[in-house]
Amino acid sequence: MTRYLITGGAGFIGSHLTDALIARGDAVRVLDDLSTGRRENLPAGAELVVGDVADPAAVRAAMDGMDGCFHLAAIASVARASSDWLGTNRANLVGAITVFDAARAARTPVVYASSAAVYGDCPIQPIVETAPTRPRSAYGADKLACELHAAVATGVHGVPTVGLRFFNVFGPRQDAASPYSGVISIFAGRLRRGEPVDVFGDGAQTRDFVYVADVVAALVAAMTRLPDGSPVFNVCTGSPTSVRDLAHHIAALCGQAATLRSRPPRDGDIRHSVGAPAAARAALGLAPPLALPDGLTRVLDWLATTR
Ligand code: NAD
Ligand code: UD1
Repeated sequence: MTRYLITGGAGFIGSHLTDALIARGDAVRVLDDLSTGRRENLPAGAELVVGDVADPAAVRAAMDGMDGCFHLAAIASVARASSDWLGTNRANLVGAITVFDAARAARTPVVYASSAAVYGDCPIQPIVETAPTRPRSAYGADKLACELHAAVATGVHGVPTVGLRFFNVFGPRQDAASPYSGVISIFAGRLRRGEPVDVFGDGAQTRDFVYVADVVAALVAAMTRLPDGSPVFNVCTGSPTSVRDLAHHIAALCGQAATLRSRPPRDGDIRHSVGAPAAARAALGLAPPLALPDGLTRVLDWLATTR
């Protein structure tokens, strides 16, 4: 039986990955401080260790006996990284270095979550992996630093690593009640009740929304194939959607009209963020992604069953 450590495994993306690995018969240990993750997200059979990913002793103990590590633990909000710069640095960068350091003893492979936020405002869209990295946020700067430390882990210490630059991931279990959550979960939670939504800036900013099952498929493929050389890949669809169009689209699926309230732009907000998916598809053998309307319907169906 193959054994995996998933840091942040009780969170949104991590719990879907845990489900997938348990379903195919792997053993899963989750290290999570439950700051945004939830015990209830985990399937029966997953082992939960409650602890901090920036605590070297906790990570070393959690890594013991593992065949691979998926490192997903982080404070995933660009807005929170702006208000709590140092606190998010500890989780987002010190946490990653702690994982790479623990992995070097046994050369345990690490597949880790990077982000489209590393690109900042890229003038050429869709963005390819070789585009310049100029993060506009503390969050993106930490994710870029994770990639640099991953290259050290591989090049100096022989730890196989693969970084996945997720674009905007959405799906069931993303918290609709938290202001720090993803825009789809916030909009879906409010629009289905006929409530207004806040649009930061003019709403013409675009994002590449990728469904969580496609992200899980990329994580699993990256661990299975482990391409050499500490590569990084976009995990995205290649299709742009503006925030304003997103609101109207979700409202239409709910049979409602959307009421949009204009709010000032957010610190560090990227204008356009659409990824080129070709390199990941070729290197990891990924299937075409789920279309946005199908994913939105799944989110709305899930919300209907939960509250
Ligand atoms: P999430 O908040 O649901 O999951 C993060 C998990 O990490 C949570 O379970 C949380 O409790 C845990 N965690 C946070 N700090 C910790 C710490 N110090 N020690 C141990 N556990 C800690 O967010 P998510 O959307 O599932 O994000 C997972 C990963 O993917 C993160 O690294 C995030 O930066 C990255 N990512 C997410 C998106 C997205 O659109 N959701 C896009 C790009 C990258
Ligand atoms: C998201 C992820 C981040 C990831 C990045 C990669 C979350 C919480 N953040 O950041 O982890 O690394 O994608 O691309 O999942 N907006 C509104 N109204 C709202 C909420 C958001 O107008 O109520 C706007 C934001 O200003 C932004 C867009 O919607 O322009 C997306 O925001 P958000 O879902 O928070 O994601 P990102 O900041 O893109």
